[in-house]
Amino acid sequence: MTSKVLFVCLGNICRSPTAEAVFRHKVNTLGLSDSIQLDSCGTAAYHAGEKPDPRAMSAAKERGYSMAGQRARGVNDEDFHEFDHILAMDRSNQKDLLERCPKPLRHKIHLFLEFSGSARDDVPDPYYGGPQGFDQVLDLVEEACDGLLDWLQDK
Ligand code: 4NP
Repeated sequence: MTSKVLFVCLGNICRSPTAEAVFRHKVNTLGLSDSIQLDSCGTAAYHAGEKPDPRAMSAAKERGYSMAGQRARGVNDEDFHEFDHILAMDRSNQKDLLERCPKPLRHKIHLFLEFSGSARDDVPDPYYGGPQGFDQVLDLVEEACDGLLDWLQDK
């Protein structure tokens, strides 16, 4: 069975494209790209069409993840129907998604870090901080991607 996973942050240039790149790498490495499809988007569309933030791309590259070809987009109404699992990077993103999502589809929305062993709820927004924020995003994203993969494979 195919699972479709959507990662969501605010601008779709830092956290959710990082999660998309890390998860795609893991899915491809495990040979699961036919059964797990994925994308990312932002609750806001003000960076639509842009490449990921250069700081996110260089932090990802340091760990062997490519963000080539990724472009930001805003969430749209079809996403709630098309995707099976919609993963919010923080509680503010989750709240915005729940407000927009038709009630019968709200069960698809989760906090991404529910899939990690972390006690945190939120992947902190690194946009206004220094480069260490992007490394922290990668630490949290890598762990949650492993948990998400285990969960999807157990389903
Ligand atoms: P993201 O980070 O939600 O992880 O992509 C941000 C990107 C841009 C802005 C805020 C957060 N911004 O205010 O433009």
